[in-house]
Amino acid sequence: MNRSSDLNLVQAFRHSGPYLKHHRGSTFVIMLPGATVGSPYLDDIISDIALLQSLGVKLVLVFGAREQIDAELEKQHIVTKFHKRVRIADDETFEVIKRVCGSMQIDLASKLSMGLINTPMQGSRLSVVSGNFITARPLGVCDGIDYIHSGIVRRVDSDNIRRELANNSIVLISPVGYSITGESFSVNSEDIAAQVAIAIKADKLITFCNDNELILDGDGEVIAELFPTQAEQYLDKIDPDIHNSTCRYLRAAITSCRGGVERCHLVSHEQNGAIIQELFTRDGIGTQIVRQSAEQVSQATIHDIPSLMDLIRPLEIEGILVHRPREQLEMEIDHYIVIKRDGMVIASAALYCYDEEKLAELACVAIHPSYRGSNRGNILINKIEELARKRGIKKLFVLTTKSAHFFLEKGFVPGNVEDLPKEKREHYNYQRMSKVLFRTINYDQVH
Ligand code: ARG
Repeated sequence: MNRSSDLNLVQAFRHSGPYLKHHRGSTFVIMLPGATVGSPYLDDIISDIALLQSLGVKLVLVFGAREQIDAELEKQHIVTKFHKRVRIADDETFEVIKRVCGSMQIDLASKLSMGLINTPMQGSRLSVVSGNFITARPLGVCDGIDYIHSGIVRRVDSDNIRRELANNSIVLISPVGYSITGESFSVNSEDIAAQVAIAIKADKLITFCNDNELILDGDGEVIAELFPTQAEQYLDKIDPDIHNSTCRYLRAAITSCRGGVERCHLVSHEQNGAIIQELFTRDGIGTQIVRQSAEQVSQATIHDIPSLMDLIRPLEIEGILVHRPREQLEMEIDHYIVIKRDGMVIASAALYCYDEEKLAELACVAIHPSYRGSNRGNILINKIEELARKRGIKKLFVLTTKSAHFFLEKGFVPGNVEDLPKEKREHYNYQRMSKVLFRTINYDQVH
């Protein structure tokens, strides 16, 4: 056995630490579409789900059965009609739906009962609960067409779901809803997942999909984060006939976000462990639809200092920034703004005003290497300008030995040491030979 050290693993584990803590005690609704349940990746997904449960995450699983129902209907030569992309469940079709969903529920429950095989946790039993948690009503008649046994969610029995979750059970929900009149209805699983997530105030809704259902930008890269309005714009651009599933997932995510669910994630079941990477790394692997961006610009506080130091120390060692001892950072923290991503400081800048001369220094501009090459530099400078404007500052200046081109690109122009405020001039380090650059603050754009 090779027992050499695996620094990647150690590094990854350290990174996941904050999320292990954050997710413990949270509630996630996980949507498993029929395609995911029918895929060869299901076993891995089930063990990832068991792992999440063992880490203290409360889980509701909602499964879909579209592909399985289609296959069974075809086998029995039953032709079903659709209206506005919704299946019309007549008596014969609904019998098939009930049989397929019932059998899938049993199969999923038995797979979950297996839990974490081949691990020290083998044998620790997961308790899986199903029930009549979803009350449905008929979709009724639309354009003169009766949807018969196809229904929509009317109510979610959130109290009972929460009780089961508090008991450490996994709640497994099929795409069928029940009515107080003793009927049952076929219900769209994405709709159930979204309504459940909202009703039980879940922290997340996570949906699996095929690789070709992921949300991509113009270069074919997975989009990391969208606000609900951006997700709507994306929906407007794609063809619902070709990207039908993506449309349904996105709509469920938008509805959930608007209904109070902080983050909804879409990950591919074809990527092994995608849910683990999405949940336990800062950048994830899929798309998250969020109410509030994971990245925020804010005034730094004393609590940000350890993370700020992690950011700037490597740059100090490289000689890009001058060394600032911790005590100095503590005393001057009010001068700093930071961009934080899930609590970690990934960029910083500081403003030191020389009010009499109406000049201010832009200092300690740092962006974490993994997060360069995007708009963050502009975000920092705009924020600093905004603060400077409030103080009536006319010009910003920077002293830099290695990053002059960065500031030139941002509209700074070279200047002289003599133009610095008196105090700064007196302390200018002629050995360091920093370049001095200025930028006039624009007051025209102030609204
Ligand atoms: N792991 C974090 C979470 O669970 C962040 C995920 C980031 N994902 C993304 N697609 N940007 O919330």
